[in-house]
Amino acid sequence: MNDTASGKDVGAPVRAAAALAISMVLGPGRTLDAALADSRVQQLGASSPAATQALVYGSLRFGLRLVAAVQTLLARPWEQQAPELRGLLLLGLYQLEYGDVPPHAAVSTVVGAARLIGQAKAAGFVNAVLRRYQRERVELLARADAVLANAKAHPQWLVNAFQRDWRRGIEPMLEANNEQPPLWLRANRRRISAADLADRLTRAGHEVSLCEFAPDALRLALPVDVRHLPEFVDGLCSVQDAAAQLAVPFLGMSAGHRVLDACAAPGGKTGHLLEADVELSGLVAVEFDSSRASRINSNLVRLGLKADLRVADASRTKDWWDGVPFDRILLDVPCSGTGVIRRHPDIKWLRRPNDIATLAAKQRALLAALWPLLAPGGRLVYVSCSVLRAENADLIAGFLAGDHGAVDVTAQVTAQTASLPEAPGPGPGYALLPGAKDTDGFFYACLERS
Ligand SMILES: C[S@@+](CC[C@H](N)C(=O)[O-])C[C@H]1O[C@@H](n2cnc3c(N)ncnc32)[C@H](O)[C@@H]1O
Repeated sequence: MNDTASGKDVGAPVRAAAALAISMVLGPGRTLDAALADSRVQQLGASSPAATQALVYGSLRFGLRLVAAVQTLLARPWEQQAPELRGLLLLGLYQLEYGDVPPHAAVSTVVGAARLIGQAKAAGFVNAVLRRYQRERVELLARADAVLANAKAHPQWLVNAFQRDWRRGIEPMLEANNEQPPLWLRANRRRISAADLADRLTRAGHEVSLCEFAPDALRLALPVDVRHLPEFVDGLCSVQDAAAQLAVPFLGMSAGHRVLDACAAPGGKTGHLLEADVELSGLVAVEFDSSRASRINSNLVRLGLKADLRVADASRTKDWWDGVPFDRILLDVPCSGTGVIRRHPDIKWLRRPNDIATLAAKQRALLAALWPLLAPGGRLVYVSCSVLRAENADLIAGFLAGDHGAVDVTAQVTAQTASLPEAPGPGPGYALLPGAKDTDGFFYACLERS
């Protein structure tokens, strides 16, 4: 890989950083963000953090296809190989198949990287596997690609779950999951409209388009590091996918409403709720992870906004609720993240089939605990960035069948939002699949208390 900033080959240390980060995801199961933030990874990749990141994302995005192809070349199954070896192999295979350096350089720099991460003994093995892959890649890939999950680099259990939930047409979603996501911004409408921000960014040389259904959203064709964007630093905008920006219009807040933002960190939606042009009587944000809760504060400081933040388990309402009902509740549940795989390709490697039932149990518990806090006639918007029905429509259907006095008003609410993509399947709630309008996959259910 060439470092596009310098035009120079970034060499073995960056490969070593990338292989190490990949091995941390594949071995101990660290998240991609945590692996990239590791001090050894940062040290080795210091000459080009962007190139390190690109190699790690690419390898994890397409790796399951490559592993399926190379499996027959290994004496022991892939999972039984040492994590560092898997990191080196995956990186080498990714470079050979998708990289932009000549094959001999792809192989030799990965072999050099092996030495830098203390895997000198493995260098010969890595070299041999990569060279054999180079010679036999056409047949190896043809055999692997005969299976849809391999061809689209997804775990088989997840493809089965997508097929069960969405039947036909999952290929566009699988392909969207492998794309590099665009950068969506949200204009801080207290300070600037999306159209004016788009003008300003266009004049600064960015290629910008507005979103037809999320009024505050704008898309930058070429992602940038927002820390260098004056409009971001000054609090005129935030980074947020257009699909995530539907929570605020779907809540339908009015002046005087008391609003609860449950599961609030890192505060993307908290900021949007406060930017909306509505004088609320109060906004309570609850988050149980204290380090993530501090990110809500820093985001709000940048935007010049304030919320009543409580660090607590939202489902243990006795610990934090003052007994005054809420007119609106935003419940943005912890979920499998299967709608945001393009932003977090590590999800393909880290999620396990059993996680889904565990997550659904947590989601149900949060919904059951928070529902009684809603004032009669009030609205709760349940949100997830999952595309699995077990965490979404099935869970909401189960809740609606209970004796909670809950009415699903999602269809009426979505009908008031122009140009929304058509729902891909029957309700309750409303789903957006990844890639439908270049957004992440999200699920919304708008429930009112009768
Ligand atoms: C999907 S994220 C929320 C994203 C956030 N609403 C935003 O827009 O930036 C879910 C959050 O819920 C938090 N969480 C999970 N279970 C919780 C609970 N029982 N009580 C409070 N927060 C919880 C997680 O720590 C995580 O920060």
